Amino acid sequence: MTVTLSVIKADIGGYVGHSSMHPALVEKAQEMLEKAKGRKLLIDYRVMACGDDLQLIMTHSRGEENSEVHKLAFDIFMAGTEEAKRLKLYGAGQDLLSEAFSGNVKGMGPGVAEMEIQERPSEPIIIFMADKTSAGAWNLPLYKMFADPFNTAGLVIAESLHRGFAFEIHDVRTHRKITLNAPDEIYDMLMFLGAPSRHAVKKVFSRASGEIAAVSSTERLTEVAGRYVGKDDPVMIVRCQGNFPAVGEVLEPFAHPFIVEGWMRGSHHGPLMTTSFKDANPSRFDGPPRVIAAGFQLANGTLVGPRDMFDDPAFDQARDEANTLASMLRRHGPFEPHRLPLDEMEYTTMAGIMKKLGTRWEPL
Ligand code: F6R
Ligand code: MG
Ligand code: MG
Repeated sequence: MTVTLSVIKADIGGYVGHSSMHPALVEKAQEMLEKAKGRKLLIDYRVMACGDDLQLIMTHSRGEENSEVHKLAFDIFMAGTEEAKRLKLYGAGQDLLSEAFSGNVKGMGPGVAEMEIQERPSEPIIIFMADKTSAGAWNLPLYKMFADPFNTAGLVIAESLHRGFAFEIHDVRTHRKITLNAPDEIYDMLMFLGAPSRHAVKKVFSRASGEIAAVSSTERLTEVAGRYVGKDDPVMIVRCQGNFPAVGEVLEPFAHPFIVEGWMRGSHHGPLMTTSFKDANPSRFDGPPRVIAAGFQLANGTLVGPRDMFDDPAFDQARDEANTLASMLRRHGPFEPHRLPLDEMEYTTMAGIMKKLGTRWEPL
């Protein structure tokens, strides 16, 4: 059976500040998705939240970039924005760049990850959702899952994985893409993946079967809007088992925190903290950045789950390490490398400061 998985997310208002999601927005989304399921637009759905982002997880049989499915998500975000305005939630509608839908939510603010698949006899998938970071945050874990034999034993010892994976990489600044193959081209690939503020892995494919293995959202709100309008907190869908890494290999990159951009005012580096669903409410200095993992089995397009994959004491050490790293970075206050380089901050008073002090800068 051919099934399309669509995860479309947006920050349409935070509770309190940018820290979490108000239940009223989840309820509104649930109500509208239930109706869409009733009229057979969707096979199934789940509403989730990570920090201040509302996550619509939908299955259907209409393919990627379907205008009716995108319109549904857009209408839900508009209705949720009304609800957020009524409650005076913080930043109501902040990710919606336009009030008029034009066929596709891409480029309108929401983040989108979609894949059309032939559902296997058993189809385990994991949907990762992050808050207070950006799409490039998935580069390191995707590399580990699909190209690093120290992470994924199957790359060495499983016939189905041994031929490696192809990575479609987007340059979010010049709007170009390239596909590079692992393992043959990993040194070239890492040149780009190692610069995650500019490059993001959009898709990963099995080289043995050509099947899609993973897809992420790579929208970058700042680039889309030309000015700072909110964080492009990313999502990704990863297929597991069989021709793909095992569930445990897909989760393993998160057993140690790594540093991402996007903390406080989108202008600081911080550790990506692996948490259970209930702990994904970034509060300390508006962070540290969070990631949750929702596991599902698909059954003819029906979502069996979610299982809260990081709700496991085996990830406690990752959380402890993240807290240690967070404290260490916080001690730098306004200094790099905690604060982002000047041209990458999403907030900056630099222009004003230069206007005021420009003439006082003298040649050496
Ligand atoms: C938002 C975020 C927050 C905000 C900060 C200031 O995703 O990361 O750290 O940037 O709370 O928010 P504003 O400018 O809305 O007062
Ligand atoms: Mg927000
Ligand atoms: Mg957010």
